[in-house]
Amino acid sequence: MSEESVTVHDALGGTAFFLRLADRFYERVRDDAVLLPLYPEPGDLPAASRRLGLFLAQYWGGPQTYNEERGQPMLRARHNPYVIGALERDHWLVCMLSAVNELVADDDIRTQMTEYFAKAAEHLRNDQPLRLVKP
Ligand code: HEM
Repeated sequence: MSEESVTVHDALGGTAFFLRLADRFYERVRDDAVLLPLYPEPGDLPAASRRLGLFLAQYWGGPQTYNEERGQPMLRARHNPYVIGALERDHWLVCMLSAVNELVADDDIRTQMTEYFAKAAEHLRNDQPLRLVKP
């Protein structure tokens, strides 16, 4: 058997898949009373959707288009303007996992994505100060 493995990006059909996933996610954000107010410009949701889709395509092994357009992701820093507590994290996850469950048929990939999103959303929680040293 070959050692080479197909990226999740390729297995799901390429960047178009991640753009569609982000669109499905943002359709849910539009109806979410906790998440929608976080977005400064509701008219800008299509642009936000493209940024998320390109980031995810890149993260899962696709082209570096996100970095070319936006620079290094630095996601924690980019989320600083928004207060993300457990409630926001959970609403974000419900919207994303419902989009994943709708679009991803492969059980193994669905599990990988679920684990990634759960960890990443918790990592972006910023409602408590980070303690780098013991008090
Ligand atoms: C797995 C977790 C997450 C990932 C991978 C993610 C990814 C991203 C990316 C790639 C951007 C665009 C950054 C840029 O290029 O400017 C973004 C923006 C944003 N995110 Fe997240 N995010 C996550 C979780 C969250 C959570 C939990 C919230 C709050 C509930 C949140 C709220 C926002 C908002 C309000 C924006 C600004 C919209 C925009 O203009 O792009 N995100 N996120």
